[in-house]
Amino acid sequence: MVWDAAGVTRKVILDVDTGTDDAVAIMLAALHPGLDLAAVTTVNGNVPLPATTDNTLRVLDAIGRPDVPVHPGVAHPIARRGFPGQTHFKRDSDRDMHGTSLPLPAPVTAARDTSAVEFLLHTLRDTTEPVTLVPVGPLSTIATVLAADPSVRDAVDEIVIMGGAHAYGNVTPSAEFNIWADPEAAAMVFSAGFPRLTLVPLDATHQALVTRADCAKLAELGTAAGRAAADLITRRIDAYSAGHGVHAADSAPVHDAVCVAYLVRPEVITTRPVRVEVETAGALTVGRTVMDVRPNATGEPNAQVAFQARAEVLVDLLLTTFGEAGQR
Ligand code: BDR
Ligand code: CA
Repeated sequence: MVWDAAGVTRKVILDVDTGTDDAVAIMLAALHPGLDLAAVTTVNGNVPLPATTDNTLRVLDAIGRPDVPVHPGVAHPIARRGFPGQTHFKRDSDRDMHGTSLPLPAPVTAARDTSAVEFLLHTLRDTTEPVTLVPVGPLSTIATVLAADPSVRDAVDEIVIMGGAHAYGNVTPSAEFNIWADPEAAAMVFSAGFPRLTLVPLDATHQALVTRADCAKLAELGTAAGRAAADLITRRIDAYSAGHGVHAADSAPVHDAVCVAYLVRPEVITTRPVRVEVETAGALTVGRTVMDVRPNATGEPNAQVAFQARAEVLVDLLLTTFGEAGQR
């Protein structure tokens, strides 16, 4: 697979809690010619681990990429039991934007026997080329890998995380789901010293809204990926319209896809260097990403944080990639 002017494709490992928006991110990573999707690892999150793994396999089978290995990851937060629980999900209601199983055929392909933690440790220790890590779920699997061997961060040229919020959260006023669902894991990842950490919080993803009209264009592509993306994003739009909270009518954010889009179209977001810490103790603020955006900020920035995103870049990329993937 040769794509960019230098003839280089970027080796990527996605860490997901699939989920409707994770599904679109997986399809983009698996089908874009500029990305070499080496594996997908899973984690507890939108739904419990067996379902995030099963959903991931469904997506890859549906788009003709059963060759991408899927490794099951960590099934619970690293330091908490019974937290967050699944109680905040309104399963099978009109506000349930994920469901337990995605509306795609049951997978034919099986997950690999090697756990995500083992796979990541071996791959990052042995790799001779840089790996880009894209976690778009709670950070339990990534933190477990770092706890076992912090040096593996040096094999990662960039970690691109969907999570956090500066203005307001989506699970609580303070916290975004991925960080809130395992705050101790997130704190470990932000303090791990990755050479480059890019954070795509709600502040950005809420600007890259995909509309019903965009979904119609995706469906018209007539490809498996176009149809699946249209169905899954429509489900998100229905849930947001039913009261999930959104800033424009008949549209929804597709959070995780923005991270993958950034790998091939960096102009989809605008970032600035910021010091980010994760709140793990506050009764009202647990899971908050505290971003020091003061003009007189103290402390070294540890993240490039996206505060803006461009919907037109994301939508153009989805249409192009899912259209060109029609033969798969
Ligand atoms: C994030 O949480 C999950 O529900 C989504 O898949 C996304 O990664 C948004 O807060
Ligand atoms: Ca996710």
